[in-house]
Amino acid sequence: MENKKAPYYVTTPIYYPSANLHIGHTYCTVNSDALARYKRLTGHEVYFLTGADEHGQKIERKAEEAGVTPQQFVDDIVKGFHSLWELMDISHDGFVRTTDDYHIACVQKVFKKLYEKGDIYKSSYKGMYCTPCESFWTDTQLKESGGVCPDCGRPVEEVQEESYFLNVSKYAPRLIEYINEHPDFIQPPSRAKEMLNNFLLPGLEDLCVSRSTFKWGVPVDFDEKHVIYVWFDAVLNYLSKLGYLSDNDELYRKFWPASVHIVGKEIIRFHTIVWPIMLMALDIPLPKQVYGHGWLVLDGKRMAKSFGNVVDPVKLVERYGVDAIRYFLLSEFQFGTDGNFNNEILITRINSDLANDLGNLLSRTVAMIEKYFGGEVPEAKVYVPEEDDTILPAAKALAGKVEDAMNAVHPNEALGEIFKLIRLCNKYIDITAPWVLAKDEANKDRLGTVLYNLAECMRIVGVALRPFLTRTSPKIFAQLGITDERLTSFDSITEFGLLPAGTKVVKGDALFPRIDIKKELEYLEALLPKAEEKAEEKAEPKAEKPEAKPAPVQAEQAEEKLPEIGYDDFAKLDLRLAKVVACEEVPKSKKLLKFTLDLGGEQRTVLSGIKNWFGTDDLIGKTVVVVANLAPKVMAGIESHGMILCASDAGDVHLSPLTTMSEMQSGLKVR
Ligand code: MSP
Repeated sequence: MENKKAPYYVTTPIYYPSANLHIGHTYCTVNSDALARYKRLTGHEVYFLTGADEHGQKIERKAEEAGVTPQQFVDDIVKGFHSLWELMDISHDGFVRTTDDYHIACVQKVFKKLYEKGDIYKSSYKGMYCTPCESFWTDTQLKESGGVCPDCGRPVEEVQEESYFLNVSKYAPRLIEYINEHPDFIQPPSRAKEMLNNFLLPGLEDLCVSRSTFKWGVPVDFDEKHVIYVWFDAVLNYLSKLGYLSDNDELYRKFWPASVHIVGKEIIRFHTIVWPIMLMALDIPLPKQVYGHGWLVLDGKRMAKSFGNVVDPVKLVERYGVDAIRYFLLSEFQFGTDGNFNNEILITRINSDLANDLGNLLSRTVAMIEKYFGGEVPEAKVYVPEEDDTILPAAKALAGKVEDAMNAVHPNEALGEIFKLIRLCNKYIDITAPWVLAKDEANKDRLGTVLYNLAECMRIVGVALRPFLTRTSPKIFAQLGITDERLTSFDSITEFGLLPAGTKVVKGDALFPRIDIKKELEYLEALLPKAEEKAEEKAEPKAEKPEAKPAPVQAEQAEEKLPEIGYDDFAKLDLRLAKVVACEEVPKSKKLLKFTLDLGGEQRTVLSGIKNWFGTDDLIGKTVVVVANLAPKVMAGIESHGMILCASDAGDVHLSPLTTMSEMQSGLKVR
């Protein structure tokens, strides 16, 4: 192996601390970890970065719901990120939080730099925004998606404000050229086509990169009314943690450009369009690759906390151990495409691949060396090509196959190659039948050769598994009696025959105990969320079919039908337009906000239970519809006179007050 290999910088997305992480986030991080570990083991200096994306309106609202400050809210959840990564044996070198001082300083410097350069400019903006995704969508994009957010299928809301814009259109032609000239930049290749055809070639609008309707973000330091758009803030984590634009940019100089950003396919757009354009504007190199992996889906739907269908990795690891879960996440799904999470497959894999194929192979090999050679690895003296060549070439080629797969960011294929060798070894035992050889002393040397080959293959397998099964490889080495680190290095498995004869094997526990499928399936099914908990699942577009139009939320609601009424009944309602003049918290109430409404000359106090969805500033100046003749009612010690009409979906996940399409005078009747 060469001594000096290129530094390797791999990143995961920085996850939103809006809720605890689930198996989908774990999938991405474990696969990135395997890459980082593999590169370290093959002599690269590695920086592996993960972190938390802590700003934005979604987090601000969640914190409000929880009755704590946004900082307290994220601090608490980020603690859980750290313990999950510890549990999963994640070997990150850095953990970035977008509320860290160095990050905020970096974002502000970049913003100012691009503003001074003219690549960020101030203008007025009116657009449709999806708060959960923190994304604006153009009319064309919304037309395509049937009016809902093209990413998540949820309703968008109109937002108008004076904002700063990134001059995306200026750089788009350069980016198109770059993508065409660098076929490895966006992987898998289908995602590159998607970006070109769906976004870049139809033409990009400049991107709004500041918000002034909420506070929880990095302030624009020269115009504090604005906070920087959360995605502009977030992608800069990849530079801020390396010290870019700081007094100590040693890591930046060593590791930039990133070798690969691993991201889920739904955020590849930000990473292959917005991010590269920011980098072009900064005049620094683009990451070498952005890899968009597929989703873990359950019953055809992407697993996501807000869809109520997530699996908790902690529960799985507590029950089956970290390596069983790492193995499942690393081997079962083709990294670039969606994969169905299925409990039965999980248990079957543990039983057949780990307990049977791998675990039994090791225990049989060690047991036979103990039984026939007093526990010492015998010498290989008698080569029988028809038999030995069923495993030797595969063992010698393994390191190269793992390398190819890892360079292509296909950990599942690397594991597939390792397990192919394991299965060949099991067949080799059947073909050579050591127990038959053992019956005749004349076959002793041949028996020794068979067992040597098996032990050496186990060493090679143990080394190759190091990036993937962090706990299992050391157990394999311990049972084979290997203490010399040179025999566990990746370098050492390009050669067959390094395990010294005479090494003393040590019998140990089964690597993976077999699991009772029926019992475990009952346990696992009980962990899955019940149907009624799957609050938003119907808003989710089907996985792996980006062209499918997401169903509008309201179309799916099964609301009870009310009896028909006559016009006279309807006419009893005095519905009026009212302008929100002021809004304040109601002490001790978790749900209520107190509104002062202007009904055209008349001011009213109206309480509304919408605190979970809106802050006190959100509706100021907006026109709403009120039931003006509703009898006054005292709530939380305050008299409310009227009711603000809102639309909401079945689980009350989305809620929006009714308003008018154009500016209308307060007090007008609604009929
Ligand atoms: N904060 C942004 C990312 C900013 S990166 C500069 C974000 N965060 S997130 O918490 O929503 O995490 C999204 C990522 O988590 C996905 O891109 C993907 O890597 C991972 N996954 C979340 N759900 C997943 C599945 N169901 N399946 C596989 N990966 C999943 O977006």
